[in-house]
Amino acid sequence: MGFIGLGVMGQPMALNLARAGTHLVVWNRTPARCEPLREAGAEVAGSPAEVFKRARTVILMLADGAAIDSALGRGTPDFGANVAGRTIVHMGTTSPGYSRGLEADVRTAGGGYVEAPVSGSRKPAEAGRLVAMLAGERAAVEAVRPLLRPMCHEAFTCGPVPSALLMKLSVNLFLITMVTGLTEAFHFADRHGLDRAQFLEVLDAGPMASGVSRMKAPKLLARDFAVQAAARDVLMNNQLIADAARASGIASPLLDVCHALFGEAVALGHGQADMVAVLHALEARTAGQAP
Ligand SMILES: NC(=O)c1ccc[n+]([C@@H]2O[C@H](COP(=O)([O-])OP(=O)(O)OC[C@H]3O[C@@H](n4cnc5c(N)ncnc54)[C@H](OP(=O)(O)O)[C@@H]3O)[C@@H](O)[C@H]2O)c1
Repeated sequence: MGFIGLGVMGQPMALNLARAGTHLVVWNRTPARCEPLREAGAEVAGSPAEVFKRARTVILMLADGAAIDSALGRGTPDFGANVAGRTIVHMGTTSPGYSRGLEADVRTAGGGYVEAPVSGSRKPAEAGRLVAMLAGERAAVEAVRPLLRPMCHEAFTCGPVPSALLMKLSVNLFLITMVTGLTEAFHFADRHGLDRAQFLEVLDAGPMASGVSRMKAPKLLARDFAVQAAARDVLMNNQLIADAARASGIASPLLDVCHALFGEAVALGHGQADMVAVLHALEARTAGQAP
């Protein structure tokens, strides 16, 4: 199997595959990131084309559509040679429209295509506990599903492309509005002079406690903005959801407010901070200083 894109997510995902005994050929634009994979027994290719030559199924865990197009040689004569007779598995997060167009191009060139975005960040990726959402032709999806097991503890079949990316955006809509709501509640308690630690205890004792609140509320209390999911990436996801909602004429008022707040947090210089840095945007609004 091939694996292209060894970033924050791709590296631990590929390592889990290699450690589970999958024969892997990997490539990354920055070669140094291949070294842990080499140590884990993977072959390191000199180019994406070499990966496509040596593997029938190739996973892409790349930043965005431009990175994917570049790795596939899309729009160049190399594209056909890279994808014909191969199954391309797109595991990153792009717009649903981009993925639909890519599927059409891959299939026209004689390749198979599976959309397999994941829910979960670096830590679940390291633990092999990502949740995958799968879309594509049934036979291709069923062939890919068992290959993902070392990376994903659950995999849901969502239907044709781009159902999996739409499912991923739906889940992210809940995550973004939930964390923004938690942050606003914390700010409300804080500015009323309540005991902030007790706010966490009350929250934790009740039915709204969740894995997310237990991860994010202590960060708000400690004003710990060390990154788990960067505000800049959340803004990018927010944009993908808002675009998909607008394209389909769907109302998304909560998401739209969050979108504005994350835009403000990034404009205030907190793009590299964790998503709870949306607190800065709320504090600026309270101070009458929204950017
Ligand atoms: N981080 C998360 O919590 C998370 C969770 C779920 C889904 N995702 C999605 O998964 C994807 C990867 O995320 P990540 O956090 O692993 O991102 P990342 O750490 O920024 O890694 C991005 C990867 O894309 C490569 N890349 C970027 N531009 C390229 C280009 N023009 N040509 C070739 N390669 C290029 C990078 O190579 P270099 O090493 O050379 O820079 C790197 O391998 C994204 O779509 C993201 O939205 C992320």
